[in-house]
Amino acid sequence: MAQIIDGKKVSAQVKARVADEVAALKEKGVTPGLAVIIVGDDSASQVYVRNKEKACAETGMYSEKYALPAETTQEELLNLVKELNGKKEISGILCQLPLPSHLNSDIVINAIDPIKDVDAFHPVNVGKIMIGDYAFLPCTPAGVMELIKSAGVDPEGKNCVVVGRSNIVGKPMAMLLLHKNATVTICHSKTVNLSEITKQADILVAAVGRAKFITGDMIKPGAVVIDVGMNRDENGKLCGDVDFESAEKTAGAITPVPGGVGPMTIAMLMENTLTAAKIQNANKLK
Ligand code: GUN
Repeated sequence: MAQIIDGKKVSAQVKARVADEVAALKEKGVTPGLAVIIVGDDSASQVYVRNKEKACAETGMYSEKYALPAETTQEELLNLVKELNGKKEISGILCQLPLPSHLNSDIVINAIDPIKDVDAFHPVNVGKIMIGDYAFLPCTPAGVMELIKSAGVDPEGKNCVVVGRSNIVGKPMAMLLLHKNATVTICHSKTVNLSEITKQADILVAAVGRAKFITGDMIKPGAVVIDVGMNRDENGKLCGDVDFESAEKTAGAITPVPGGVGPMTIAMLMENTLTAAKIQNANKLK
């Protein structure tokens, strides 16, 4: 049976570390602040936004929430982003995705000042991640790296397979593993003989968005299996991209869903907001 990697525990450790640093910054007159924008009433997004506000309170940060109606125009949203770009007490801006279909998320992301882009979605920050010279960590992939570390595994020289090539998870995930000297393969919906490749993985990251897609017979015995998925199974129960029941018999270590990668994403967001505040107040903190 595999070791279960406890994302709640690791995220609590990251948040405690961030909270200590926030307390030290406050003594120097700097309070990190996060603005979260949500447009419309998507229920999953509302839960995520509530958890982000809660994490700000837990770590001692200031937060502002902007809940805008579904019919908000692109111009209104861009005006808010511009206002927040100029607001001193806001270190980080996050616009919860997906946006209603009449709004263009690329334009909104591009409008966020890169130094306040705590999601690391702005092309400037994406480019910095590519060349390995970055201040902001892409939250979910960075959370995955923390979980791999917590399992006592160093990616250097390992075969790492990332299933999924999204801009938010798959691509930056591959980069972070590469920066740690792993041999990285990215698989996707057009990959031929997927299980032949996943079976080579010492570290397997599943980020495909399909319930229980990765089964135990696709996993190398003893592998570290990280499940980024968040889906509903046929009974409406939360489940990941990995079929946990069969996978845990083969894997050496595995993340559960819920309680694996999910809590880590928010912890890394707190870390990015702290980093943003430090950069923006570098003069005060000398
Ligand atoms: N929607 C789902 N995940 C995320 C995320 O990490 N950031 C933002 N802004 N929206 C999301």
